[in-house]
Amino acid sequence: TAVDPFDLVIFGGTGDLARRKILPALYRRFCAGQFREGARIIGAARADLGTRGYRAFVAEALREAAAEEAGDAAALDAFLATLDYVSLDARGDRGWPELAAKLTEDRVRACFFSVGPSLFAPLAERLRRHGIVTDRTRIVVEKPFGHDLDSARALNATLAAHFHERQIFRIDHYLGKETVQNLMAVRFGNMLFEPLWNSLFVDHVQITVAEAVGVRGRGEYYDRAGAMRDMVQNHLMQLLCLIAMEPPSKFDPDAVRDEKLKVIRALDPVQPHHIVRGQYVAAPGRDEPGYREEVGNPRSTTETYVALKVGISNWRWAGTPIYLRTGKRLVARSSVINVVFKHAPHSIFGEDAGQHANILSIRLQPNEGITLQVTIKEPGPGGIRLIDVPLDMTFAEALGPEGAHHPDAYERLVVDVLRGNQTLFMRGDEVEAAWAWTDPIIEGWESRGDVPKPYEVGSTGPTDAELLMRRDNRRWLGIR
Ligand code: BG6
Repeated sequence: TAVDPFDLVIFGGTGDLARRKILPALYRRFCAGQFREGARIIGAARADLGTRGYRAFVAEALREAAAEEAGDAAALDAFLATLDYVSLDARGDRGWPELAAKLTEDRVRACFFSVGPSLFAPLAERLRRHGIVTDRTRIVVEKPFGHDLDSARALNATLAAHFHERQIFRIDHYLGKETVQNLMAVRFGNMLFEPLWNSLFVDHVQITVAEAVGVRGRGEYYDRAGAMRDMVQNHLMQLLCLIAMEPPSKFDPDAVRDEKLKVIRALDPVQPHHIVRGQYVAAPGRDEPGYREEVGNPRSTTETYVALKVGISNWRWAGTPIYLRTGKRLVARSSVINVVFKHAPHSIFGEDAGQHANILSIRLQPNEGITLQVTIKEPGPGGIRLIDVPLDMTFAEALGPEGAHHPDAYERLVVDVLRGNQTLFMRGDEVEAAWAWTDPIIEGWESRGDVPKPYEVGSTGPTDAELLMRRDNRRWLGIR
């Protein structure tokens, strides 16, 4: 169903995120009929573009993002007609009265902070000072949400001085991914999995977020962040929470976020020998540069890869490790959660039949879907030999073309902001707890002067990550 008319202001409206993600997502939702007559989108940035200039910028952004197939020429014109633009200074007062004058009384005002984190506080203050904050104002804050626990606390405090928690939408776009929500549906919508979802039956869990790309022009930010801050503290932590949390009593924002928070607070501190850090280097015969060349910092010790063994000290998970790994410039783009079940307690088919384990694989990207490896008899007249076959819940096959179309995470999240639904957004205490767990790991590296292990572009990561598993008699399931 369509959302009521709203005013959506995109601060950083000419920036990279707005161009690549937010505006295409808005256009797709517009074409899907989700906006009612009168909805308005206002770009705000420093450049002196004017409304016509901004509409041209957006039309170009939609072409680049190949979003225009969502609608025809008439739809595009109608969408562009919803757009307006204000040139303003985030740190000064120029442009703010003009912005305030453009807003409509009595409707949802969503303010997207699609800007660097140093502007979050100035924007929040100016929204307040220029009388733009009403009860129906919401702000959307992108990562990075702080750099460590102290900075995240300070940021939460600044935002809390101007907004109620129910007005603050902290984005982790992984929560908007279709399969991530499906993970909750599979866990809590079926009888089949939940009774086995604990350390009695689950041997371990592997969460892999592998990327084939490098730092893509964001070297300056990335070199100060590294994979731990850029990916683990937020995206992998969220995936871990959804895998490990207790069933919330309902699918509502605080019920879900309370359960996630309990998981983060139950995480053990990570032992230094349970962490592998890596940094990519050029590989013979390939064109891609190594990380240090790519960011132009020949002495950088920033990690572009991390693998970790994580323990959760609670009744459900004690003794079942969760292995996390993420890295850039790996062999393929592939994000998968594998829940590896224990072996059957006894094989009646003898040793020759081999050891088999059920594995539930939740693939986030590409080729979203869920498969369950089950063991069956190899067909044929001989004795019983066991093989594994996938019970395949790949949506494209089960649901037809409709199932194959996955809305981008931002489409889902933008609509949730307009509707005021915070379930898929992080609460302030959750972000702080995640930093409280991450900080000692990073401080450990800094105090030991740790240098990441090199791994070649296009590989599966540093060999130490294989050792991390082998020491436990386990192995990573393939990245492809
Ligand atoms: C972002 C990180 O949050 O997520 C990037 O800053 C990373 O470094 C990106 O590339 C990955 O997102 P996705 O949706 O492509 O898996």
